[in-house]
Amino acid sequence: KIKFVCLCLLIINVYGSLFGLFLGPHYTVVVNSHQHAKEVLLQRGRDFAGRPSMVTTELLTRGGKDIAFSDYSPLWKLHRRLVHNSFTLFGEGTSRLQDVVFSAVDSLCSELMSNGSRGFDPSAAVTRAVTNVVCTLVFSSTYRHGDAELQEVISYNNGIVETIARGGLVDIYPWMKVFPNSSLRKLKECIAVRDRLLTRKLEEHKASLAEGDPSDLLDALLKGKKGGPKSHGLEGEGITDDHVLMTAAEAFGAGVETTSTTLLWILAYLLHHPEVQQRVQKELDENVGADRAANLSDRGHLPYLDCVINEGMRIRPVSPVLIPHTAMTDSSIGGHAVRRGTRVLVNMWSIHHDPQNWEKPDLFQPERFLDDQGNRATPSCFMPFGAGPRVCVGESLARLELFLFLSSLLQRMSFRLPEGAPPPNLQGRLGVVLQPMPYEVVVIPRPGWEGGAR
Ligand code: HEM
Repeated sequence: KIKFVCLCLLIINVYGSLFGLFLGPHYTVVVNSHQHAKEVLLQRGRDFAGRPSMVTTELLTRGGKDIAFSDYSPLWKLHRRLVHNSFTLFGEGTSRLQDVVFSAVDSLCSELMSNGSRGFDPSAAVTRAVTNVVCTLVFSSTYRHGDAELQEVISYNNGIVETIARGGLVDIYPWMKVFPNSSLRKLKECIAVRDRLLTRKLEEHKASLAEGDPSDLLDALLKGKKGGPKSHGLEGEGITDDHVLMTAAEAFGAGVETTSTTLLWILAYLLHHPEVQQRVQKELDENVGADRAANLSDRGHLPYLDCVINEGMRIRPVSPVLIPHTAMTDSSIGGHAVRRGTRVLVNMWSIHHDPQNWEKPDLFQPERFLDDQGNRATPSCFMPFGAGPRVCVGESLARLELFLFLSSLLQRMSFRLPEGAPPPNLQGRLGVVLQPMPYEVVVIPRPGWEGGAR
């Protein structure tokens, strides 16, 4: 492994917090400071809005027919706008997302409480609940626990996440794909299962597409792609069925692992800090009470819960170096020339742990997101979703999900460590996202919520 690292990493330039290295043949600049990140993402966001082409992501996205791994182009911009508008349909201002999440929360709470006073690992149940939300948003299917189709979605997603996470030399040296490669074979198998399922859903949606409001993301994309490229002022091919399919696939790829892992990090920190959990519950008791479920209209009255969510994403950003960017033109960072084609990694971990930006950055202190008057305050060096032209397209969706999941969970139950168990290991392991090591919890229903749901 060390030999491999030596082969691939050759740090050749260090400019203070900025350094350049060769990852195999690819010259890559790593940005470690807030100032430089702002240049890359915002001030010169267009210059650095490209994405590198990699063997695994090309396979995953039918050659960049998605949003996240597609290079910057007029068609990508149109596609991104269409997806953004479609998400907005289900996002803030509508009660639809809230209903979808509530239904997943009810099943999740019942499932968690069915363990009684036994310790258990919450990760599978949390991932299942978040997957269920995405399935409803993308193609209107809502599954019960144990449903075979939901299991199929979870299983191919896990397969993709595992193989991509294992990474590999093919993404650094693409010519290596000619050699037998079991990870690549597994990835192709999972993609084939994914595509069969999503194609079936797409065909069903095409057959039933009706006038009026779209009922899910597939409907919205099918309606939005009508009109062809010319109507959008584009030459050549416009948004195709492949784009629609890859967008649906990406809602799972980008939306499940990130959201469920963020929830698991926050739960892990709450187990370390029972006083924080109690303070959130006190805020919920005072502002919502126990007679009804917390909902989106309560958000303005729950600033401390928001701080806990932010602090979780600060201290353990699930995407610690974002997604690699590339320079689309000759440009500069911090006054240093950066050539077109250079890969750029924005080290959000380092920005979120920089003692110049954060007091005692290694401590979990949600109050740091409150100002002197007790109002929410978000420093500009807090960027868990990135920023600029490539900012996460699911940010508002993710924030809504995090709020609704956590407010409901903490209103209905308390999380404790099993008797004698050590608190969760907070070091994390890096796969597709930065995940906590597995840990166990015991859940204790709060008064009035003994069944998990009402
Ligand atoms: C807590 C949850 C989430 C976190 C922390 C997160 C974070 C991120 C980050 C850091 C990026 C890369 C930004 C960059 O490269 O500069 C990104 C991109 C993206 N995210 Fe998220 N994300 C979350 C949830 C979601 C959800 C729910 C969806 C959709 C259902 C989504 C869809 C996307 C897409 C499509 C991109 C690519 C944007 C582009 O390249 O233009 N994400 N996200």
